[in-house]
Amino acid sequence: MSDDVEGIEVRLLLEAIHARYGYDLRDYAAPSMRRRVLATLATSGLPHLGELQHRVLHDRERFTELLEQLTVRVSDLFRDPPSFRAFRARVVPLLRTYPFLKLWHAGCAGGEEAYASAILMTEEGLYERCQLYATDLSQEALRHAKEGVYPASALPAFEKNHRASGATTDLSGFVTAAYDHISMRESLRKNILFFHHDLVSDHVFGEMHVVFCKNVLIYFGRDLRDRVLQKLAQSLCPGGFLCLGSAERLTGATPTERAFTPFSADERIYRYEP
Ligand SMILES: C[S@@+](CC[C@H](N)C(=O)[O-])C[C@H]1O[C@@H](n2cnc3c(N)ncnc32)[C@H](O)[C@@H]1O
Repeated sequence: MSDDVEGIEVRLLLEAIHARYGYDLRDYAAPSMRRRVLATLATSGLPHLGELQHRVLHDRERFTELLEQLTVRVSDLFRDPPSFRAFRARVVPLLRTYPFLKLWHAGCAGGEEAYASAILMTEEGLYERCQLYATDLSQEALRHAKEGVYPASALPAFEKNHRASGATTDLSGFVTAAYDHISMRESLRKNILFFHHDLVSDHVFGEMHVVFCKNVLIYFGRDLRDRVLQKLAQSLCPGGFLCLGSAERLTGATPTERAFTPFSADERIYRYEP
């Protein structure tokens, strides 16, 4: 028995989404999921969560809108520059020893992170031997990522991050500026495959040399986080690298975590050494 009626309604909504559309948000971190569901309700004009559930069950478009509101899409080009700087200085020299490289950006949001590694690998002379995979749960995020178009107002911050990541060239060589927006150049896009992938319910693909899964695990509850981490481990080749977000740390608390050793711990770069 529980008096937390709102909590019950949120769980029922997530069950309904799973049963109807197959998206499984049930094991995401409960407090932040609840906050986002309630924020969505507040702006929906609907009287209660029961009504929101009814609309979502009967109207796919309503569900798509809700999914967009429940997933957090914030990103940036070279977000968290020290992690890219460490990647460039410490991981790239080891990647040079491979004739062909597979990099996966899991939870790529609007594509900024994938374009950042495409830029970095170009600067390091490795882009031509790279295949990048950039995936996300959100179709809207993927649409944006494929376009690679960002507001011109973002350019100064992009440039600052790029420089702080240890850039060896100027960002202007990678973007085309129009009056109110900037576009990523086609040369960056050519080795990136963008596609839909759900870390919770889809299978993983293997033999990655690097997996970037930054600021995604943080939205998952503990068990789900470990399940997804197992998938990321399965997708890496032995000796491959896992790059996490600045607030995501592996502590060796589970057997899955113990398969990773800190490589550049302050920057959340781990090496898969099963
Ligand atoms: C905060 S963004 C992080 C973007 C980028 N990695 C970064 O660090 O800037 C989180 C992304 O994870 C995606 N996401 C959430 N759940 C997911 C899942 N089950 N499978 C794949 N992507 C997911 C969201 O759609 C969102 O685009």
